[in-house]
Amino acid sequence: MKNIVILISGSGSNMQAIVEAARVQRWAEKQGAQVVAVFSNRPDATGLAWARTQGLAAQSLDHKAFDSREAFDHALMQAIDAFDPALVVLAGFMRILTPGFVAHYAGRMVNIHPSLLPAFAGLNTHARAIEAGCKFAGATVHEVTAELDHGAILAQAVVPVLPDDTPEVLAARVLTQEHRIYPQAIAEKIAALRSR
Ligand code: GAR
Repeated sequence: MKNIVILISGSGSNMQAIVEAARVQRWAEKQGAQVVAVFSNRPDATGLAWARTQGLAAQSLDHKAFDSREAFDHALMQAIDAFDPALVVLAGFMRILTPGFVAHYAGRMVNIHPSLLPAFAGLNTHARAIEAGCKFAGATVHEVTAELDHGAILAQAVVPVLPDDTPEVLAARVLTQEHRIYPQAIAEKIAALRSR
């Protein structure tokens, strides 16, 4: 069985979409894959409670309790590795990762970013897309590499930017597409890992 570990920082709506897709599409039976654990760097992440209702191991590891980025990443790596992950899924995990952490999960860690990469890496993507006068925006699922938001693109979804959009309205339009493409990209990634 290929174990999937999901990392969140907030509401975890992408995590929910992935867990629900895994159940509805019977990934355990058909793909030999299962979501086993959810970690958050923020103890108040609301997604943790939902994950527990699904019977998932859900733990927070508060980054503020660690002296350095390296110490936090090392502890997180140990916690993740206890679940023998085939794939680590970043789902709104709002942390810059150390090169050591990224290297440890090379080829088996994916992220979703709320822009059409390579445009608008980093934060405040929706406000920046509106400010730039973009007619289209979207989301990108990509492999995680040492350079922030720059790994190989696995999937993208495009939405229009409408004349009266605020960043919040655009974010909500993009998020519904994230919930569609992220589970699908993960299923394809798992299939690719299985055929290696
Ligand atoms: C999503 O829009 C995701 O693309 C974004 O955070 C949101 C998390 O929502 N990720 C990033 O900005 C990563 N740099 P969720 O917690 O409801 O899934």
